Amino acid sequence: MTEYVKLIIGDKTYQFPVVTGSEGEKAIDISNLRQMTGYITLDPGFVNTGSCESAITYMDGEKGILRYRGIPIEELAEHSTFREVAYLLINGVLPTYKEINRFSVMLNDHSLVHEDMRKFFENFPRASHPMGILSSMVTTLISFYPYLESTEEEINMTVTRLISKVRTLAAISYKISRGHNVVYPRHDFSYCANFLNMMFDSPVKPYQIDEDIVRALNVFLILHADHEQNCSTSAVRVVGSARVNPYATVSAGIAALWGPLHGGANQEVIKMLYDIKERGATVKQMIEKAKDKNDPFRLMGFGHRVYKTYDPRAKIMKKMCDKVLEKLEKPDPLLDIAKDLEEAALNDEYFISHHLYPNVDFYSGIILRAIGIPTNMFTVMFAMGRLPGWIAQWRESMEDPKWKITRPRQIYMGPKKTEYTPIQERK
Ligand code: CMC
Repeated sequence: MTEYVKLIIGDKTYQFPVVTGSEGEKAIDISNLRQMTGYITLDPGFVNTGSCESAITYMDGEKGILRYRGIPIEELAEHSTFREVAYLLINGVLPTYKEINRFSVMLNDHSLVHEDMRKFFENFPRASHPMGILSSMVTTLISFYPYLESTEEEINMTVTRLISKVRTLAAISYKISRGHNVVYPRHDFSYCANFLNMMFDSPVKPYQIDEDIVRALNVFLILHADHEQNCSTSAVRVVGSARVNPYATVSAGIAALWGPLHGGANQEVIKMLYDIKERGATVKQMIEKAKDKNDPFRLMGFGHRVYKTYDPRAKIMKKMCDKVLEKLEKPDPLLDIAKDLEEAALNDEYFISHHLYPNVDFYSGIILRAIGIPTNMFTVMFAMGRLPGWIAQWRESMEDPKWKITRPRQIYMGPKKTEYTPIQERK
């Protein structure tokens, strides 16, 4: 039986149906609100707004739960690979042997980028941020692969092309930024091993694949693979709703992710830890600065719109840090500083009362540093991880029978009708 809520405006009562999700969360369906009442809702930052129904990712911010297609993130991080998780997110189910082999062959077949694209890379100023380069290059893919049909096969090809080529583009941008030769993808390496090899192999020092590092990269990417309607995913859905091509759509997600309040936070965390290590700042000063309402500084890698408890991804990431550093026999003083900072924040009344806990970005940079990824590539790594999520969400929105172009309204607060003043009469 449908549940309803009542809205009373003046002497009129309106009824709106309640939508209940598969885990019991409830939403008031106000899709007819304006038509029925003449009113709209006002919700800056969409804090209380559900933008869609989705069957991809479930989060419970109070309990610290994250599941992809129903499977807990902890199980996926323990047992799965990034390639398999990408398949799961995009197709809705875990693949069989046959399906994953087919997916691998397609990833391999589409891993090269057109040689002409290399010329673009060479003309970016050396100091360009890799996120800007990646976003531009992903949009550029439409010029090289313009044949987009809506058959299932063609969509699968575009999806695989994106997942495979973004990895190649990311590695090329790094090699070119170093002034080194580009390393081509290899058919005999797994998705993550291939990326590491493209990043670090060199004619003078062949890269030795270390399965523990490959595993760490898999876990890093799995933990970032989707997070329901976050800022960049919403950007993907908004841009995609105009029915633009999937490359431009994903590029919008990359641009949104770049922001320091979103995916760019992983780079900012390392800067913050460096300030403590190198520039004489103390943990206490950082905590006080973050609490100071006259200072725009925030403790980076802390806080989350949805999680009001420890981010389940951060828990896994923290454990991984210890494992990777131990394996590499490469202690990182930044990890000790991060742990001190976390302890100080978790015992501070401000952070306790604001429910601010470490998020996925707090420890991820330490793992990336240990693997050898330079700091300005951290958010590119996040983008590689989030890609299957963006694609799955884009695809779901394209198939949504309730689809509409995204076009919110506003409450106008500007001047009332004003006459045009000719320039000579203006004061
Ligand atoms: N340090 C200090 N205070 C904070 C922090 C922080 N990191 N995060 C939130 N607050 C305070 C904020 O000042 C506000 O205080 P008050 O109510 O007293 O004015 C309160 O907590 C609520 O903050 P908000 O900005 O309304 O919360 P939000 O849900 O809009 O923002 C956030 C979420 C992630 C943008 C924010 O917590 C933040 O800026 N964190 C630091 C950046 C960061 O680590 N971002 C990565 C997010 S996780 C990865 C991803 O998915 O992108």
